[in-house]
Amino acid sequence: MTRRPFLWGAAISAHQTEGQNQESDWWIFERRILARRGLQPSLRAADHWNRYKDDLDLLANAGLNAFRCSIEWAKIEPQEGKISEEALEHYAEVFAYAKQKNINLCVTLWHFSLPQWAAAQGGMRSAHVRNRFLQYVRLCVERLDPLVDLWQTMNEPMVYASEAYRWGSWPPNIRSHFAALRMTCTLRALHRQTYAVIRSLSAKPIGIAKSMIAYLATPRASLWTRMIQHFRNFSWNRFFFVGQLRWHDFIGINYYITSIAGRKKDIPTAEKDDMGWECRPEGLVHCIQSASRMGKPIYITENGIATDEDEQRIRYLDLHLTSIQKEAKHNPLLHGYFFWSLIDNYEWDKGFTKRFGLVSYLPVTYARVPKPSLSYYGQRIKEHPTSKSRRSIHGTQKK
Ligand code: BGC
Repeated sequence: MTRRPFLWGAAISAHQTEGQNQESDWWIFERRILARRGLQPSLRAADHWNRYKDDLDLLANAGLNAFRCSIEWAKIEPQEGKISEEALEHYAEVFAYAKQKNINLCVTLWHFSLPQWAAAQGGMRSAHVRNRFLQYVRLCVERLDPLVDLWQTMNEPMVYASEAYRWGSWPPNIRSHFAALRMTCTLRALHRQTYAVIRSLSAKPIGIAKSMIAYLATPRASLWTRMIQHFRNFSWNRFFFVGQLRWHDFIGINYYITSIAGRKKDIPTAEKDDMGWECRPEGLVHCIQSASRMGKPIYITENGIATDEDEQRIRYLDLHLTSIQKEAKHNPLLHGYFFWSLIDNYEWDKGFTKRFGLVSYLPVTYARVPKPSLSYYGQRIKEHPTSKSRRSIHGTQKK
């Protein structure tokens, strides 16, 4: 058994943060659709592509030991079959810089955006595109694996299926329950295939980032209400994993939302953020405990709050860190926590209107401005014993 530190990190994704993702489907969508709603396109986003050193310095200096980011397929393969050596080299430099700073890296291979050429051929609905995706994965793993600690094949497959195929709010803007269900099943299979490609080249743990919602009921809720919550829990939180656990070395949980059913007056009120999401740390604990039944190591790969008031972010962090620290004491499956997000970024179809960052930046120069919540986070984890060392139950996997 190896010893590994508990991971205390912050997360970002490529399209939301790096900027200049010109060959992606979102670059077009932002201009064709979002601009009509008065939303600014992502442009340079937070300019992380050029300022990654500042960002990693801030993260490491605050005392965090882990970073979750994604690789942008549209940058690696801007035209079908044409690989950008420059982009691959860029990610190698970013990851090497993180290693130099002793930062553990959790890397997601696909976080919602697609290359335009892939989207034009039907995106992940097309078997040809999925095969190309697997080739891109192979390339990334061949080149970058020594620098990566955890691989994630994809981010929130069911959120992607819902937003892009059920509600039509993201490209390719399809509105069909059937198409969304089909996409979910396609992505389940794609995860398995991606897992196999990574495993043929790497011994590192592989998983996904799964959006989880805590479906709770008040003590006086009817049996029917409870059954509905159980069903929701199964279909949103568990379905993706049923019969699939051998392709998940760990469970990555992205947690933001709790849904409590019961009579309105029985539901305790909670502070809301700018997305309208309630601050309910008990929901995070519920998701961890329910995911623990799958018996796999758990990382919270996203958790955070959209607010312009950093005081509110600090209150949120306080409550969620207290819950995590308590849970980590007696739950050996819990291995890490990544706050969303390291830096204010492009919030998909909400543009730049929602701010999740521990760090902000100045409009023209993009100079970094750390918020008090960053040092608060650093301070809190220094006091926590799991920031030293703990046993890993999933060191290196067999190739
Ligand atoms: C996504 C992020 C997003 C965050 C806040 C998660 O669903 O992975 O890309 O910014 O939630 O909405």
